[in-house]
Amino acid sequence: MFGPPGSGKGTQSVTLAEKYNCLHLSTGDMLRAELAAGTELGKRMEKIMAAGELVPDDVVIAMIANKIDSTRGKAGFIFDGFPRTVEQAVALQNMLKERNMKIDQMLVLEVSDVELTDRMKKRALISGRADDADPAVINNRIEVYRSKTAPVIEFGRKEGVHHNINGMGTVEEIFRRLCDQIDRII
Ligand code: AP5
Repeated sequence: MFGPPGSGKGTQSVTLAEKYNCLHLSTGDMLRAELAAGTELGKRMEKIMAAGELVPDDVVIAMIANKIDSTRGKAGFIFDGFPRTVEQAVALQNMLKERNMKIDQMLVLEVSDVELTDRMKKRALISGRADDADPAVINNRIEVYRSKTAPVIEFGRKEGVHHNINGMGTVEEIFRRLCDQIDRII
C-alpha cells in the first residue's frame, strides 16, 4: 500500500489484511511502538519522526526483515509505509526473492494535497502524533514524500506492479476500488 502521508494507507490496510488473510506490516506503527515503549531505538528515532523526515533505511529494513518470516497461516503481506525509498524497495524485493515470494501489486492511493492536510489536521485532534500537530511538519512530510518516496513509483512501473487508485471519497468507496484491483490477480 503506497501513497502520501494521510492518504489512507493504514485505514485501508487493516481491513484489506482481514479480508485477504494477510499480515499487515506498517513501519510507522512499528516505530511508534518503539517510541511508546521508550526503547533505545525509539529514542533515537523520535526527533526524526517528529520533524516528518525519514528514519535511516537500515533501521526499517531490519524491522521488516525481522517480521518477514512470520507469515505462518497467512496468505501474504500488506506492506504499509514501506518501501519509502528506492533502496528500501530493492531490499524488499531481494528479501522476498530469497523466500520465493514477490511483490504482486503496488497500490498507489492518489489524494489531493488539500485533502491530505485536512485529514491529518483532523487526526491531530485525537491521535497525539507529534507529526500531525504542526502544519509545517505536515507540509514537510508531503514534501519528503515527493522528493524521496515518489521515485519508488517508477520502480513499481518498471516491475509492472504499479496501479493508481483514486484515494478520494469515502473509506468504503476506496476499499471497493482496492478490492477490485486486488481481485484481478487472485
Ligand atoms: P507512517 O506512520 O507511515 O505515516 P505516514 O506515511 O505519514 O502516513 P499516515 O499514517 O499519516 O497516513 P496513512 O496514509 O496511513 O493514512 P491513514 O489511514 O492513517 O510514518 C510515520 C513516520 O515514521 C514517517 O514520517 C517516518 O519518519 C517514519 N517512517 C515510517 N516508515 C518509514 C520507512 N519505511 N522509511 C523511513 N521512515 C519511515 O489516514 C489518515 C487520516 O485520514 C486518519 O485520521 C483516517 O481516519 C482519515 N481517513 C482515511 N481515509 C479517509 C477517507 N477516505 N476520508 C476521510 N478521512 C479518511
